Parts: sequence; structure tokens; C-alpha cells
Amino acid sequence: SLHDVDLLSVVPVMPVVVANSADEGVAIARALVAGGLPAIELTLRTDAALDAIRAIADEVPGILVGAGTITRPGHAKLAADAGAQFLVSPGTTGSLLHAMQDTGLPFLPGTATVSEVLAALEAGITQLKFFPAEAAGGAAFLKSVAGPLPAARFCPTGGITPASAPSYLALPNVGCVGGSWLTPADAVASGDWDRITKLAAEAAALVR
Ligand code: 3PG
Repeated sequence: SLHDVDLLSVVPVMPVVVANSADEGVAIARALVAGGLPAIELTLRTDAALDAIRAIADEVPGILVGAGTITRPGHAKLAADAGAQFLVSPGTTGSLLHAMQDTGLPFLPGTATVSEVLAALEAGITQLKFFPAEAAGGAAFLKSVAGPLPAARFCPTGGITPASAPSYLALPNVGCVGGSWLTPADAVASGDWDRITKLAAEAAALVR
């Protein structure tokens, strides 16, 4: 079932997307699916984000649509009610964790330090976001924590590029990486969906 989906195994690159309207979100989602990336993390950074999640869930068959940038506990239920199928937060507090857990949806709480990873493991959560990945230590950080904390598995996000993605994907504790490079602002603004499809196809071909 949806609640059992392994978020780290759906796609090698999770597209992190900002949508300025529901229609824009749907067009981006279709372009990503056409390129072979049937998943999207729609960030709650615009007024249109919840409408975009609802529209994508309704209008784009076969895509896994989640809500990103969950920074307040109240966001979790709003996103779930809008049709989000998973949740992602940039960091973790106790109340954020409980709010995401209460939805029953799969989720990736953000971590950036060994202590935060330990706290998540203590709460029984092994699938994590590592954010901001490049700024917080990059692939070297994840390589270092694989020894002492082998149970933790990550989706690193933040500053990752097509050039740096393979070094993350080669690590045993990385399932996928996240990034916004698939949806350049100028491509979105000009409606260049073919360019997004091409970037998605290149990302979909990355090997884990
Ligand atoms: C996120 O919310 O995960 C990041 O903003 C995405 O990071 P990037 O824009 O550096 O890819």
C-alpha cells in the first residue's frame, strides 16, 4: 500500500519543486513523468503549493506526489488533506515529528548532525533527509556516519548537482538524492517543459 512505499527507492533523484500555480505544478509533474521520474516533492513555499499538490494528485496518473518544506506541525495535516502521499521536512523537532507521524503517511524528517540522526533512530525512524547536504558535510559526512549508524538511510538534499549526485548515490546509506536542478526557474517561467523532461531523463538514468 501507499503507506508502505519505500520513499528512498522510488527514483534516484527526487525532484524538489516550487510551483507558483496549480497549473504550473501539473505541467512540471507531467514533464518529470515524461522524463522517467514519477515522483515530485512539491515544497510548501508558495501560496499555491497545496492547490498544486491537489491538482497533481488528481490530474497526473502514476506520480507519487509529496509535500516538502514542512516546517510547522500544522503543515502536515494540511498537506495530507490536499492529497500529499508523503511528507518531507528540512529539520526535525518533536512536534514536527509527531504531526508527520499522525498523518500515517511515509515521511522523511530532516537531519544534519549525528545527534539528530541518533534522535530519529531512537524514535524508530530510519529513513531520513540529510539537509543541507553540501553545506553540512556532503558525501563525506554520510560516508562517516555509515560505520557507527548503519541503520540510518538518507536522501541528501541541498546544493546537489548532476555532477555531485553520483558520489552520493554510490554510498550504501543513500537511497536517492533530492534536488531542484530539474526545474530551473527560467525553464519554468518560459514553459520550457521539454527541457525539464530532458533533465529528468538524465537524472532518471543515474545509477544507485
Ligand atoms: C530542499 O528543500 O530540499 C532544498 O531547497 C533543495 O535544495 P537545492 O535547491 O539546493 O537542490
